[in-house]
Amino acid sequence: MSPSTPLLREANLTEIESLALSSQLNMADGHARQELTEAQRSIIDELPDLFGKAAAQPVDDLEREAHGAYLHLLRQHSYPTGPGGVLTCYSSSVAMEILSRSLAASGGGPVALVHPTFDNIPDLLRGNGLRLLPVEEDVLHHGPVGEAVPEAVRCLFVTTPNNPTGRVLAEERLAAIAAECAARDVVLALDTSFRGFDTRSHYDHYAVLRDSGCRWVVIEDTGKLWATLDLKVGLLAYGDGVGLPLAKIHSDILLGVSPFILVLVTRFAEDAAAGGLTDLHRFVADNRALVRATLADVPGVSFPDVDARVSVERVDLGDRPCLDVWTRLRQGGVYVLPCGQFHWADPARGDRSLRIALARPPGALDAAVRALRAVLLDA
Ligand SMILES: Cc1ncc(COP(=O)(O)O)c(C=O)c1O
Repeated sequence: MSPSTPLLREANLTEIESLALSSQLNMADGHARQELTEAQRSIIDELPDLFGKAAAQPVDDLEREAHGAYLHLLRQHSYPTGPGGVLTCYSSSVAMEILSRSLAASGGGPVALVHPTFDNIPDLLRGNGLRLLPVEEDVLHHGPVGEAVPEAVRCLFVTTPNNPTGRVLAEERLAAIAAECAARDVVLALDTSFRGFDTRSHYDHYAVLRDSGCRWVVIEDTGKLWATLDLKVGLLAYGDGVGLPLAKIHSDILLGVSPFILVLVTRFAEDAAAGGLTDLHRFVADNRALVRATLADVPGVSFPDVDARVSVERVDLGDRPCLDVWTRLRQGGVYVLPCGQFHWADPARGDRSLRIALARPPGALDAAVRALRAVLLDA
């Protein structure tokens, strides 16, 4: 893709992220690219043994172990443990495609989707012919619950914690929304890909969903937490009576993920439970503090997501057009994301903010944010 401004406006976020993949100063995608901790490096040193274990053990056992290690780590103790209640996918996007195709196959009204959010979610839903209605974050999180679930929708889709804002759906609010969905027979779907970073999203969502009696689907993702070179899984969990052909469409697309990746996920989750997750939270908080401190005295710049704990940080640029800033950064080999595309129903609302990835080595992040500071002071 040519990175000229008009094309940049039309590009999706993944196209913009792909421009940065070989850059030393890639602060664009939300994948985990920090250095491994000592404990994680020792897991990598065990890879030949893990490969042997993966080859020797029945895949059902490995899958059960990976689901359990990951979901208990994040305190999702009530996840479905029965056969087929959690479908393992190559990535959360594949889980999202399966959900989108399942919704498309089952007819009905439009899908309500949180606004803003990562653009591949609306893209996959629309790509399957589904009509979307935006639900603003403030409406989703506060005020009459009926307004969070628009009239005549067949599904409400919520990203929590959200990307890029980091907003987390509180337990009481999830319960209220789930009760509303149950009463109106709306499927409630959650993308919790970023939940590992934020303990406020570690309450047991599955217990809340089960107790509400609504039809529900949850997409989980191991890929945002650990720098495993994109060896990751997406999980597609759903309740009894969901009424969507998820398992059938999963089987249209894949037989299963590599048992080797399942073993790796289990080992990283065990390490996280033994203290690695707390260390990761501190690491992300330190990187967020670095970004805020470096830009603190730049006139007009602010940080809209004051409470965010996820591994990305939005920067509001005041009256500076984001695409100008993005283009000048790129000329210096520094990549971030413009925010227009996150506002999938109204891109102009993201025209003056950008998103910086925090799951990066602090030295590289520091260099990138200093370059951003220089561009902003010059703009
Ligand atoms: C909220 C959310 N869900 C899903 C995805 C897709 O993840 P993947 O590219 O690993 O499929 C992303 C990507 O950043 C995301 O931000």
